[in-house]
Amino acid sequence: MPSVYIKTYGCQMNERDSEAVASQLVAKGYTLAASEHVADVVLLNTCSVRDNAEQKAINKMENIAGDIRKHRPNVVLGFLGCMAQSRGQDLIDRLPDVDLVIGTQKFHRTADYLDDIFAGRSTKIVDTAAEQGSEGTIREHLLNGSTKDKAKAVTAFVSIMQGCNQYCTFCIVPYTRGEERSRSIADIVAECRQLVAHGVKEITLLGQIVTSYGRRRSNSRESKVEGREPEIPQPSTLGSRLLTAKSPFVQLIEAVHEIEGLERIRFTSPHPKGYGDDLVEAYARLPKLVESAHLPVQSGSDRVLKLMHRGYTRERFLEIIRKLRGARPGMGITSDIIVGFPGETESDFGETLSLCCEVEFDNAYLFKYSPRKDTPAAAMPDQIPETVIEERHARLLETINDIGKRKYDAFVGRQTQILVEGPSKKNSARMTGRTRCNKIVLFDGAERHRGQLMDVKITRTGSFTLYGDPAVVGF
Ligand code: SAH
Ligand code: F3S
Repeated sequence: MPSVYIKTYGCQMNERDSEAVASQLVAKGYTLAASEHVADVVLLNTCSVRDNAEQKAINKMENIAGDIRKHRPNVVLGFLGCMAQSRGQDLIDRLPDVDLVIGTQKFHRTADYLDDIFAGRSTKIVDTAAEQGSEGTIREHLLNGSTKDKAKAVTAFVSIMQGCNQYCTFCIVPYTRGEERSRSIADIVAECRQLVAHGVKEITLLGQIVTSYGRRRSNSRESKVEGREPEIPQPSTLGSRLLTAKSPFVQLIEAVHEIEGLERIRFTSPHPKGYGDDLVEAYARLPKLVESAHLPVQSGSDRVLKLMHRGYTRERFLEIIRKLRGARPGMGITSDIIVGFPGETESDFGETLSLCCEVEFDNAYLFKYSPRKDTPAAAMPDQIPETVIEERHARLLETINDIGKRKYDAFVGRQTQILVEGPSKKNSARMTGRTRCNKIVLFDGAERHRGQLMDVKITRTGSFTLYGDPAVVGF
């Protein structure tokens, strides 16, 4: 059977989609290749969030077409995911070497389409259609020894929903991923149980806007399509008297929390707008829900937040942070921030800087604003010049790094629990684990420590990394 290499660009959801596709291909008899140079099929799973992510994938495909196809003309080339969805047939018009373009609701058809190409039934395939129920098709994991490392996976991502209805004015995701569609609690719990049975100890629940999990399409711009109403997940039967006040997302967390053998639960990404007290309270109540939160703020200026259509104010964001820290002292908090949104003044940017100093994020991912096709922000007046964006980005990065360094340095001398994930990618003599608050810890350990919850004493710090010494007797 042919071998396949999948290269992934972008977010954790894309990583998860690639893993599910790889697993579906393996189930059909395909093998996984170690690199594009030896593969019979090369698939690029793409990201559209910023222009440079798209350019990277296009350049890569051009190189592969020019280089690999020259020596091995029968190699099959394909684009998957967000850019495949937004550009469709255009990609083949522009890059005629490409055989396959598969959108975000059709990942599960990849194996069938490859079969068609290898059997000579089709040559060029483009499928970017919507498919009812596609949110339930990202469920397979690479756990059966199909790759060496995945065989012993300690952590896993589980996709709980697809799409987003928030329509932030800068964001292409609602167009590439479609309407919000949630899987049922029963379906998600069954997948998590299976993972735990294979030795997984930590699960991250994934979605573009997990705080909207299981809610009706209240922000939908499209009129309802007959028969396309998303399935409303079943409320947990494990409930308590508070059941009716709890959001479906908190009900889902509770149901996953019940799984015996599961040690840790994380999720990404929530939206401040839907961050109710029930979710804050879940942190105080559920010990497996670790003290770590990624909460994208995007800007510290109320004026910019409004232009972005974010649906909260700076004060509301700060209130959530205060409540989270009240519920769980030592909460690790990270965020996403956009620099240079159209119309952002020096004073608006100052508000973002001051918000970062006030919150003291453990880390934040900074994005230079990139105009995206058909999004309202791309047509807004006062687009910010590149040089100004660069300069603000550099200033904010320095602030984030300074705060991060202080926060990481404060761990030195402390004892903390980590979950050991495996050998470090950079130095296989070292093992790597993560604290409950999501900080990476490197230590001199051995393979037998994989999957263990272990206490380590932090001895020094690197860049957004901690170094530890096992503190347990009998190590
Ligand atoms: N809700 C999703 C957001 C996906 S996009 C999630 O957090 O998983 C990830 C981040 O990319 C956003 O939080 C935002 O900070 C950034 N981003 C999105 N569109 C952008 C654009 N047009 N330019 C720059 N950054 C952008
Ligand atoms: Fe994008 Fe805003 Fe949704 S950032 S993914 S439209 S919450």
